[in-house]
Amino acid sequence: MAGGDTKKGANLFKTRCAQCHTVEANGGNKIGPALHGLFGRKTGSVDGYAYTDANKQADVTWDDKTLFAYLENPKKYIPGTKMAFGGLKKDKDRNDLIAYLKESTA
Ligand code: HEC
Repeated sequence: MAGGDTKKGANLFKTRCAQCHTVEANGGNKIGPALHGLFGRKTGSVDGYAYTDANKQADVTWDDKTLFAYLENPKKYIPGTKMAFGGLKKDKDRNDLIAYLKESTA
C-alpha cells in the first residue's frame, strides 16, 4: 500500500478520531493521548497521559505497518486498551488515514 489520499484521510480523522485525539504540536491530550510525533514513537510514551498498562506495555513502535494493523481492530491488536474505537475495516480507509497522520503529526 502506498500513496494514500491525505484529503480523504483528513476527513476520516475529523469524523472518527478528532473527538479524542489531536495531531498538531502542542495539541495536547484529550480523551486519548496527543498524536503529535507519533511515527517512530513507542506505545504509551506521551508524558502526562494516563495510559492503561496494556497500551504502555504493548512495546510496539508506531509506523505505517503497526498502525495499519492496529487501526483495523485496536482491541485485538492491544487487548485491554481503553480506546473505545471499533476499527476501520477497509484497507483503503486505513491507508488514507495513515497518509494523513504521517503528514499532520510530523
Ligand atoms: C472514543 C475516543 C477515541 C477515539 C474515537 C479514538 N481513540 Fe485512539 N485512543 C483513545 C484512548 C483512550 C487511547 C489510550 C488507550 C490506552 O491507554 O489503553 C488511544 C490510543 C491511541 C493510540 C496509541 C497512542 C500511543 O501513544 O501509544 C493511537 C495511535 C490512536 N489512539 C489512534 C487513533 C486513531 C487514528 C483514531 C481514529 C481512527 C482513534 N485513535 C480513535 C481514544 C480514542
